[in-house]
Amino acid sequence: MPDITLTTLQSLKLAGEKIAMLTCYDATFAKAACQAGVEILLVGDSLGMVLQGHDSTLPVTNADMAYHVASVKRGNEGALILADLPFMACATLEQTLANSAQLMQAGAHMVKVEGAAWLADSIRMLAERGVPVCVHMGLTPQTVNVLGGYKVQGRNEAQARQMRADAIALEQAGAAMILLECVPSELASEITQAVKVPVIGIGAGAAVDGQVLVLHDMLGLSLTGRVPKFVKNFMAGQPDIQSALRAYVSAVKEVSFPGTEHGFNA
Ligand code: KIV
Repeated sequence: MPDITLTTLQSLKLAGEKIAMLTCYDATFAKAACQAGVEILLVGDSLGMVLQGHDSTLPVTNADMAYHVASVKRGNEGALILADLPFMACATLEQTLANSAQLMQAGAHMVKVEGAAWLADSIRMLAERGVPVCVHMGLTPQTVNVLGGYKVQGRNEAQARQMRADAIALEQAGAAMILLECVPSELASEITQAVKVPVIGIGAGAAVDGQVLVLHDMLGLSLTGRVPKFVKNFMAGQPDIQSALRAYVSAVKEVSFPGTEHGFNA
């Protein structure tokens, strides 16, 4: 049982204290992130890009995810471990159950699924069977080929209305957390107020319940040289990685990150 539980996160939301989440793929960084005060370690399928060198997250398998979840678990010091179900891991209800079980047995405390209202049955089924679920909405990298690129989502009123309705429907289906990626700041703020569960943002402005960044991005490391607008390099001006991780947590807690320059308008 981690020190940080869903109850802790719910209390942070109610108290208005921002939640610090960071991606993490191994034991050493898990320990360092915990010691810096990170509350949620996201074993993201971004590992396909930043660790494996692919140009998308699509090649990542559930076995890859389980390997990294088990590594993170060994270094974890009390954070909640959130693990991504990778591309096609939720293609059927049976696969969703089996793949979630593999990640939970490897050490995850919660799984994350990318999508929208169509996930309601999967989320209900997982929640009923003891698997907390975070739903990743907005820019969902696993569907980059449908979206036509890594683009901001929810910019027009019809899309925004749909996203608000989906968030509420998925909370009702049992989602315990929502992650919004590349969504206009105002829409993210509206969704955060409309649901009771914590909402974590990446490129979603400051008026959400917490923030997440990809570890390599916030340490100023990039394979491609393309740095998304929502990223801040927390290594800049810091003597070492531990200080950079602490600076990230402080900036999230003090709401000095993200600034308006890291967000998007409708
Ligand atoms: O896989 C990942 O790292 C993620 C973040 C971009 C939120 O889903």
